[in-house]
Amino acid sequence: MLGTPRKNRESEYVAKWVYSKLESHEGIETQYFDVCDFRLPQDHYGQEIKDQFPEWRDAMIKADSLVIVTPEYNHGYPGSLKSVLDLLLREYVHKAVAFVGVSAGPWGGTRVIEACVPMVRELGLAVTFTDLNFPNVASKFDENGKLLDDAYEKRAEGFLDELVWMATTLRWGRQNVSSKFHS
Ligand SMILES: Cc1cc2nc3c(=O)[nH]c(=O)nc-3n(C[C@H](O)[C@H](O)[C@H](O)COP(=O)(O)O)c2cc1C
Repeated sequence: MLGTPRKNRESEYVAKWVYSKLESHEGIETQYFDVCDFRLPQDHYGQEIKDQFPEWRDAMIKADSLVIVTPEYNHGYPGSLKSVLDLLLREYVHKAVAFVGVSAGPWGGTRVIEACVPMVRELGLAVTFTDLNFPNVASKFDENGKLLDDAYEKRAEGFLDELVWMATTLRWGRQNVSSKFHS
């Protein structure tokens, strides 16, 4: 999920790169979502309107995990990301979430990720601890969206290994350990 609708968002380069890593990873089936594509009404909110977004709803029902690529906006997350996440609830429970933080500044979105953690916990998601961080993001990609720093290849491996472990373990748990939150 790409978490910002801002024009000329640098986070889109990051999201597309992360998506390419997910797509090429053996055993992962993935789908790309962008908050820009959600035409959220101005006069309603939350789970009551989830059926207006069946692709998102059905993808999350099927999914074992969620990857969130979010820029840091005033040390927090974009409101549009929260609005999209708030469309669902039960669909997230006991599934994994991994974060990719993006910032213009030197901290690579660590503050936005920390801000997201209590929020996704309330959604029932279980957070991985191997974040990817993109500080000074404007210098990380060329104008064609090519990542200029090879060090991210290795970091992406660690990020994906942990995500797969969490997603696999939680899927086993959902299937084998009963909970009132899923059947
Ligand atoms: C409303 C707003 C608030 C921002 N706040 C921060 C911030 O707290 N820390 C930071 O490092 N960058 C901040 N930035 C800069 C973004 O991190 C920067 O635009 C970066 O490219 C990632 O966001 P983008 O995907 O919108 O480009 C902010 C940008 C906007 C639009």
